[in-house]
Amino acid sequence: MKLWGGRFEAGPSEVFERFSGSLHFDRRLADADIRGSQAYARALETVGILTTAEREKAVAAFEAMRAEASAAGFFDGADDEDVHTLIIRKLKERVGGIADKIHTGRSRNDLVSLDIRLWLRDEIDATRELLGSLMAALIQCARRDPQAIIPGYTHTRRAQPVLWPHYLLAYFEMFARDHERFGEARARVNAMPIGSGALAGSAFPFDREAIARDLGFAAITRNSMDVAGDRDFALDFLHAAGLTMIHLSRLAEDWILYSGEEYGWLELGDGVTSGSSMMPQKKNPDSLELIRGKCGAVFGDYSALFLIMKGLPMTYNRDLQEDKPRLFDAADQVRGSLEMAAVVIETTRLKPAPPLTAVEDSWAVATDLADALARSGVAFHQAHKIVGRLVRESVRDSKKPADWSAEALAAFDPAFTPEMARYVRPEEGIRTREIAGGTGPRTVAAALDEAERRLEALRG
Ligand code: ARG
Repeated sequence: MKLWGGRFEAGPSEVFERFSGSLHFDRRLADADIRGSQAYARALETVGILTTAEREKAVAAFEAMRAEASAAGFFDGADDEDVHTLIIRKLKERVGGIADKIHTGRSRNDLVSLDIRLWLRDEIDATRELLGSLMAALIQCARRDPQAIIPGYTHTRRAQPVLWPHYLLAYFEMFARDHERFGEARARVNAMPIGSGALAGSAFPFDREAIARDLGFAAITRNSMDVAGDRDFALDFLHAAGLTMIHLSRLAEDWILYSGEEYGWLELGDGVTSGSSMMPQKKNPDSLELIRGKCGAVFGDYSALFLIMKGLPMTYNRDLQEDKPRLFDAADQVRGSLEMAAVVIETTRLKPAPPLTAVEDSWAVATDLADALARSGVAFHQAHKIVGRLVRESVRDSKKPADWSAEALAAFDPAFTPEMARYVRPEEGIRTREIAGGTGPRTVAAALDEAERRLEALRG
């Protein structure tokens, strides 16, 4: 069946049909198409196109179809142009002539916008739930080692000691923003386009607000031409998905390094690693590497849709059909990666000794000593110079911070008072950073409790 054809003498060529057909991917919209069409049948009754009996028959047939659509075989042998055509053909097989009226005042242009929006809304909700689970896993992970100290890095060089939970909460914040961003994308997805027709608005006096309420939309779209050509809402989703993947890939990269022999801080669960076919000793972080790799794939989807949209003349153009493979792929990758990352976090254990040793073997406490001098009245630039010299000489003589006693420090430079010697221990400097957002132990403990409450509110 075709939803068009009267105007043509010859049918489409086999190559064109194969080239232009979208059923093999847009079949994912079947459930959304059916739900939208049920609401549309009800709307058609209100404008007198369907009788009550016809509407009842159509809605019931759609309901039966919804159940079948999720079972195997529903699409077997189908050679329809797209999912919209398939659903109408299946309706016709069930209710005959009533199906010939279902497309009255509707176009695939407003229908496909509706279907994507319905599908995307659910997809966003599911993605946000997975983000919530990931954030919960980060909190759990932080709770296991509340006191652990690691070197914080800049330029991959040991910079300053931080609490392990502080590091984990940094990712919590990124994912909290992603959660928010998906919420913002959802708000723009959540507008009801039906009634726009092909581009000029439907010629039937539907109560569009009522259709929106029927389908749980917060609003109706405002301009029919905009609807026919717009995929901003899909790009908003891809933007949120892209940033989520960026954050996941950075966490993945950290943990690939931290679990490797050169760092040796983390033990990844056996269940998320794989071995080598040749080297018997290997325990490879494939789960994390795949997350990092899939980030690239999602970015490909993101830029693909931007390029597809670029310079399209108003309004609908068939180019827009190319939105769906990218959207579906990105949605699958982000959900899969979030699910995987949560399992990795749940099953990873920190070995607190190596990162602490990494701090103690380095001069990560240098800033703490300079800050202590500055608090005692030494100008910071002077303090910086004194500690810089201390580090230079220590490195030359293979001395670690702990090798310096109060007396030795005072002998090195009289600006060091006896009480400053404690800053050679990383936990002392950490205690000076109780500023809001800092790595002070009380601040971090409070941030952890607050993160828990925020997460509860998000998931509530
Ligand atoms: N498969 C089409 C798409 O995804 C549906 C809309 C078709 N509209 C049209 N005017 N040919 O964009």
